[in-house]
Amino acid sequence: MSKRSTGRRVDPRSMSVATRAIHGAQLYPHKAPVAPPIVQTSTYRFENSGDALRYAQGDPDVYVYTRYHNPTVRAAEERLALVLESEQTLLVASGMAAISSAVLSGVRSGESLVSTPALYGGTYRFFRDILPRHAIRVRYTDPRRPAALDGLIDATTRIVYCETPTNPTLGIVDMEALVDSVRKAERRFRRKILIMIDNTFATSLNQHPFRFGVDVVIESATKYLGGHSDLIGGVIAGSREFIAGAHTQMKYYGGCADPFAAFLLLRSLKTFELRVRRQNENALALAVWLELDKHVARVLYPGLPSHPGFEIARRQMVGAGGLGYGGMVTIEVKGGLRKAVRVADALRVAVNAMSLGGTETLVSIPVYSSHVHMSASELRRHGVTPGMIRISVGVEGIDDILRDFTEALATDR
Ligand SMILES: Cc1ncc(COP(=O)(O)O)c(C=O)c1O
Repeated sequence: MSKRSTGRRVDPRSMSVATRAIHGAQLYPHKAPVAPPIVQTSTYRFENSGDALRYAQGDPDVYVYTRYHNPTVRAAEERLALVLESEQTLLVASGMAAISSAVLSGVRSGESLVSTPALYGGTYRFFRDILPRHAIRVRYTDPRRPAALDGLIDATTRIVYCETPTNPTLGIVDMEALVDSVRKAERRFRRKILIMIDNTFATSLNQHPFRFGVDVVIESATKYLGGHSDLIGGVIAGSREFIAGAHTQMKYYGGCADPFAAFLLLRSLKTFELRVRRQNENALALAVWLELDKHVARVLYPGLPSHPGFEIARRQMVGAGGLGYGGMVTIEVKGGLRKAVRVADALRVAVNAMSLGGTETLVSIPVYSSHVHMSASELRRHGVTPGMIRISVGVEGIDDILRDFTEALATDR
């Protein structure tokens, strides 16, 4: 008997993330294709001229133009809302499009944003170079001292923004303490302050910021959600009201998602949980292994007891329903930048390339990539050193990864 004939409906929110990521809300009707169609069109035929008016009056079922809406993009957004546990999501062209659309729809000129200095370099440069042109002020707090935040929030503050774990130093921000101080400040100033978290490194499988009272979650879908180093995308998750504002912002700045990228993303979500579980396991094994290597001065991984944020990470990741501590490991080699370059160039399994979150292990040197064009004092503030190598651990056999790093670290050429 088909589910249709019994009329039994399954609430997808009662299912595990792995199941939700594969089936979504079973949106497609009986006998529809299992893989969604790619609606690769820029525009849509109207049934009659009244359709244009119906769209303008807010009818969500009328499609007019792909920069505004597209059925494949919308299918991905609905699936992502289930995976990220949010009321609604907006899929856009890239992680940076997600960050700029979310931030610019939450803060206006004359207002301000508070952030932590340790951020993905692109985000930091957007805050440093672009926001001031809109007369938006950015102030930075020390994430290790939650009390410092109180002194920085004032009546102009509209957004408190951070990453956790941070790129590339894997610093941990205590979300419970952060939300607590921001809500107190809101009462003091009687204004809503949006808390935004870039959850790209952890993913919604390892960390659930909404469970801590965060308002908006951003993920670069290019990374773990896409997971195969073959698409660029970004997702904003939050309330219906916030997403409507971010959608308007995106419409005019123009960073819409491409239908083919949305299709690839829907495909990738089917293995999201499998991939991330394996990446978590491989990353932990590699971090433990590298701590014993004599060429390595420091291993930064939030799942290691030696990590300064370990207790907080344990509480807010694994202790709050997360699968693990993520697939990112950063090491600092003895011998500085010269040695880091030698090691990165000697790897044979791991790929020396930008980006992260793919099935293949990727390495990059932050001072040459995400943190290039930063002054020495900015690098210090971000905690980035020349001898750092950021590793996005893939799903390869762990023995091959361990051997590759051991041999590359021992190279003296
Ligand atoms: C933490 C983080 N957020 C956002 C981005 C930007 O994502 P995208 O490259 O998809 O624009 C990156 C890119 O590396 C990132 O590492």
